[in-house]
Amino acid sequence: MKNNDEVRDIVDKLTLDEKIGMIHGAAFFRTEGVARLGIPPLVMSDGTMGVRQEFKPGTWKPAKHSEDAATYLPCGSALASTWNRSLAFKAGSVLGEEARGRGKDIILSPGINIKRSPLCGRNFEYLSEDPYLTGEIAAPYIRGIQEWDVAACVKHFAANNQETERLWVDVRVDEKVLREIYLPAFYDAVKKGGAACVMAAYNRLYGRHCSMNHYLLNDILREEWGFGGLVISDWGGVHDTVKTAEGELDIEMSVTNDFDNYFFADQLKIAVREGKVSEKAIDSKVGRILALMMQLHMLGGQRKKGCYNTQEHRETALAIARESVVLLKNENSRLPLHPEKIHRLLLIGENADLKHADGGGSAEIKALYEITPWMGISSLLGGNTEITYAQGYFREVKKSDSDADWQEKSLENGGGRVSRGEKESKIMERKREKLRREAIAQAKDADAVIFVGGLNHDIDSEGKDRQDMRLPYAQEELIRELLEARPDTVLVFIAGSPVEMNSFIQKADAIVWSYYNGMEGGTALAEVLFGKTNPSGKLAETFFKHLSDCPAHALGEFPGGTAVEYKEGRHVGYRFSERFDVAPAFSFGSGLSYTSFSIEDALYNPSAGTVRCTVRNTGLSGGKETVQVYRRIRDEGGFCRELAGFEKVEVPAGENRAVKIVLREIEEEDQELYIGDSLLTSVKI
Ligand code: BGC
Repeated sequence: MKNNDEVRDIVDKLTLDEKIGMIHGAAFFRTEGVARLGIPPLVMSDGTMGVRQEFKPGTWKPAKHSEDAATYLPCGSALASTWNRSLAFKAGSVLGEEARGRGKDIILSPGINIKRSPLCGRNFEYLSEDPYLTGEIAAPYIRGIQEWDVAACVKHFAANNQETERLWVDVRVDEKVLREIYLPAFYDAVKKGGAACVMAAYNRLYGRHCSMNHYLLNDILREEWGFGGLVISDWGGVHDTVKTAEGELDIEMSVTNDFDNYFFADQLKIAVREGKVSEKAIDSKVGRILALMMQLHMLGGQRKKGCYNTQEHRETALAIARESVVLLKNENSRLPLHPEKIHRLLLIGENADLKHADGGGSAEIKALYEITPWMGISSLLGGNTEITYAQGYFREVKKSDSDADWQEKSLENGGGRVSRGEKESKIMERKREKLRREAIAQAKDADAVIFVGGLNHDIDSEGKDRQDMRLPYAQEELIRELLEARPDTVLVFIAGSPVEMNSFIQKADAIVWSYYNGMEGGTALAEVLFGKTNPSGKLAETFFKHLSDCPAHALGEFPGGTAVEYKEGRHVGYRFSERFDVAPAFSFGSGLSYTSFSIEDALYNPSAGTVRCTVRNTGLSGGKETVQVYRRIRDEGGFCRELAGFEKVEVPAGENRAVKIVLREIEEEDQELYIGDSLLTSVKI
């Protein structure tokens, strides 16, 4: 109440000019303040893997100062693969504390769009194909951020599931499906996480841009969900002054430096004067901005000061990285490798030696440092092991000065599709062949061979989608030949989205998966490979065998044209593979460990909405297991399953732990619950 009165008092004192200054960008990441009333500007920053670097005023050229390097956290997909809510909270807390330490008020994170197709260029930023898992990770993450008097801005609301034509594409999705698959994580972000800001997505939904979509922003977000925080446009996502200003969007941001030409700037002033937009509508927006400023203690009171690049933050980055690595395959107990038996180790593949922090679009990070796999392995093994490196393949290095300010031009093409980052020419083919031959020749003499390949941010990037699911740069040929020469080669992939593995998957004993795993990614990977960390990551998305097996491609459209129809309906990821019996390469929720677990005495308590069980570690090393409960749901002409609850637990070798899993709310009456593949209970409530 007191705040409401205070807000009203301040709004009454503001001139129209001042109010308008507060609701649009006056710089790329800042609005205008009102100095005479002690109202500061709102300062924002990307991003999803850490606080982004600074830019030279009015340009997208990096400032290149020394003070803006930051902790580089594992990307969203990596975080989700931990299935660990408390790590999600810690990740958010690092981000919030660093954002505050860097003087930011709003951090444009998390990105929680559902992974509808493996080709979406921003999948690495997003969490999962499953709405419940996404919400369960996003909510604590947001709470972690907001502990620091910094607002989280959850993005991109909503149905922003591709980059191709991202500024205009019209998403056509059944409303029931929208509510079942594409909205719940946003609901959780707002209701359970308490997100103070929401970013309206670029795309259109049911024919209307999200930034002025009454159904989305008013009917659902404000009315149904009771969201009272700020709605901020994506950068350049506003297309109309009157409709947007009369709607629920509070702040317009963009990528061009003609700030007075923004829809919410001079044009809005004229529209108000001409009576096309009511000043009351502007007052509501300003009121919400002031309320947020009070919540963040920007208008007085003790505000937390934050800090960045602390040792503790780096430890959190490492803790997340450790739990996010997924062991996909481990035949013949090929892993872990035993350091004492390895005198000569051969590392093959560009990703062993490549840093990823500074790519991917607005998620890019000027990392304080980044431990590559080579560095991590080398540091773990020490000086008595001889490590040789063979590049094996190469990418086209395309970074040029004009790439540095890509964002300035990001409204020009509306996003597109990218080929696999390679121009197949005879010269390149020959160069690749030479590298391949060199690698294979060296492989014969080593005690152990580790291949580290995958993708990079030339491919996993904002503004473009992948064209296919294949590994680029002729990696498949290299892997196949390697496995012929050295069947014991360990395969490691670093990427932001699944890749096809059909041509070698049978032959490989050991396959390890890492998303872009933050500044300590190489350390975590080395620890997993050599058994210092027992892997516990589980896939938060289905790895289909072929692109044509993916529901958006098998049943729906991707990327569509000016419109895209989500004809696959609710059948996203594992909901599709289970319903239509399509065996994936690796399923949602899968991930191996160096030990084994058994789940015993599972008991469902319908009135409490919980499942209790005992997790026993039946192997020889301590480890972490994620118990996953699924429920069977009716589905047109059949059934499919959905994640109903999960809990991660650490169990020392030979011991057991009691676990309680709180289930998500259940609407249907008939319940069949499963843990893994075993039917837990079939009850009628
Ligand atoms: C992206 C947003 C980002 C914004 C500011 C846009 O291109 O879609 O996710 O926060 O730019 O950099």
